[in-house]
Amino acid sequence: MADDDTSTTIDTLAKDTKRYEADGEFTRQANAQPDIYDASLEDFWDAQAKQRLDWFTPYEQVLEWEQPYAKWFLGGKLNAAHNCVDRWVEHGQGDKVAYHFVPDSGPDDPACRDITYADLQRDVVKFANGLKSLGVGKGTPVGIYLQMVPEIAVAMLACARLGAPHTVIFGGYSGTAAAERVGDMGCTVLVTQDEAMRAGKTVEQKANADEGLSSVRTKIEHVVVLQRTGGDVAMQDGRDVFWQDLVADQSEDPESCPCEPMDSEDLLFLLYTSGTTGKPKGVVHTTAGYLAGVATTHHYVFDLKPDSVYWCAADVGWITGHSYIVYGPLANGATSVLFEGTPGHPDKDVWWSIIEKYGVDILYTSPTAIRSHMKWGPEHAESHDLSSLRVLGSVGEPINPEAWEWYRRHVGGGTCPVVDTWWQTETGHILITPLPGITPLKPGSATKPFPGVDAAIYDDEGNTVGPGGGGNLVLRSPWPGMMRGLFNDDERYRDSYWSKYSDAYFAGDGARVDEDGDFWLLGRIDDVTNVSGHRISTTEVESALVDHDSVAEAAATGRKDPDTGHAIVAFVSLRGDREGTDELAAELREHVAKQIGKLARPAEVIFTPDMPKTRSGKIMRRLLKNIAEGEPLGDTSTLLDPTVVETMQEQVKAGKG
Ligand code: WTA
Repeated sequence: MADDDTSTTIDTLAKDTKRYEADGEFTRQANAQPDIYDASLEDFWDAQAKQRLDWFTPYEQVLEWEQPYAKWFLGGKLNAAHNCVDRWVEHGQGDKVAYHFVPDSGPDDPACRDITYADLQRDVVKFANGLKSLGVGKGTPVGIYLQMVPEIAVAMLACARLGAPHTVIFGGYSGTAAAERVGDMGCTVLVTQDEAMRAGKTVEQKANADEGLSSVRTKIEHVVVLQRTGGDVAMQDGRDVFWQDLVADQSEDPESCPCEPMDSEDLLFLLYTSGTTGKPKGVVHTTAGYLAGVATTHHYVFDLKPDSVYWCAADVGWITGHSYIVYGPLANGATSVLFEGTPGHPDKDVWWSIIEKYGVDILYTSPTAIRSHMKWGPEHAESHDLSSLRVLGSVGEPINPEAWEWYRRHVGGGTCPVVDTWWQTETGHILITPLPGITPLKPGSATKPFPGVDAAIYDDEGNTVGPGGGGNLVLRSPWPGMMRGLFNDDERYRDSYWSKYSDAYFAGDGARVDEDGDFWLLGRIDDVTNVSGHRISTTEVESALVDHDSVAEAAATGRKDPDTGHAIVAFVSLRGDREGTDELAAELREHVAKQIGKLARPAEVIFTPDMPKTRSGKIMRRLLKNIAEGEPLGDTSTLLDPTVVETMQEQVKAGKG
């Protein structure tokens, strides 16, 4: 019964979906041509690894696969910093800009600075020498707790140069969270900054780090403190040193600190990501496969050109920033924008001013950010010359068709391809995505697996679901950037990703596939709720709600219901000064029923001025359920603004009367 209803929904959606054919002119100049899908998986990645990376010693074997552990490019030696920095200088690209750095104060501030590849090499060499003086060498783990400043890339690359694995902790995390992570990895050095600049205000960073280090047991012996604001910070004698002092007398000669030859499978970094419960997972990424994966996807998915000015507006502290602000773009010798700030500061136009100033042609951001801009209205984007834009990317969550269309129309001038890219911290790089110029686009669909990627949808029994069906997203074959396990936790690795199915990686996302074989990501499995035996994606409900004129943002969850098992509760923020009346709530419920089917009609619509978001802008879904069910909230420390949930709880209580 449930299946029948689900497939009806899928059919309806597929039929009603808009489709944008690839633009012929774009196709002619596109990096990817249709035959890109023809090569076998190993041949494809073999060719890419040879073409895009510079090897000290060529590899002997492309792949060794003993599920669930993969090894790629066996026997090869290379260095990530050499590939990202030195080789470009050696190839005469030293004067090319690697980063246009825009400070929190925006693109009009004279503090904007351009960092060329030669500058980057100098800074990386000096900092690597500085780290060396603190005892860091091949295999020494280093923690990096910085904000969006150029030195975050410098620190990562300096580690890579030395063969020292890093773990970057998102700058917005608490000091305790940072200390737990560096403690888990056994880091002896922590790199941080005095203060952060956030929307015109200073935020303590070193003090946070100190607090964490005093409450969590770690092996940290040295704390390097970048002076970002020059604000007063307490320095601990013998342990703390300012970045500026550490590098002052270091050599900038690349020969003084040669790039360490690393084995393909040597650890490049750990990145901790939250599991559904318990302690964060230390996701393991190694050198060659990761680098080949990010360089290749960055080249094709964004149609990168030699003169491109590319901007990924994520934070380096997340995997998107690792792969598509640091390693991918630099491995391709690209010019990127690095913006320290937030979308609404110093004004709502700041993003568009940046694009205009630098002639950005590729923009990569999240649906949440797009919806913020939607909320502020299209006039901001439209009052700027955005004609340099060629490709728009989206990542991090399912993008609702409304936001997709808005992005294409108001940012992309109605012509830019929008690439909705699906991937995870664990996958290292993009796995499902359109290729601009060749893949027909559908608003809300991530379309096709990238070449050399074997994605499928399985039902609960592990059968592949055909066109028109829905189930769990899996990867049936290894890919180069896949995680090499969870740090020191083989059991959890096997349990989380390899126990649901005997022959595939379980991503934890629900998905469906339409008649054209296009993938539609439905969000985490835990976002799928069951109402009267019908599987309903809360993401789909949200998408329908946001489609309504009055709605700026929506988040839906399933709460337990004595009659139907679960019932959908929708939290809704309205646009502008619209009022949340009972009539409007009824209208929205009907709107969803009309869009998806009666089965998806929310039992309750609750108006709220804002959503409970983490500092990275993701809605904390676990909380929605607890709020909807009137249950205790547990840990809310990662929320951007904890008062939001209190207001929502009150509203739920009032709604229940
Ligand atoms: C979700 C971010 C739908 C998904 C790169 C995944 C997406 C999780 C998309 C990973 C997308 C990411 N469409 N959902 N295009 N991209 N997700 O580890 O649920 O921060 O499992 O990596 O984000 O989040 P993570």
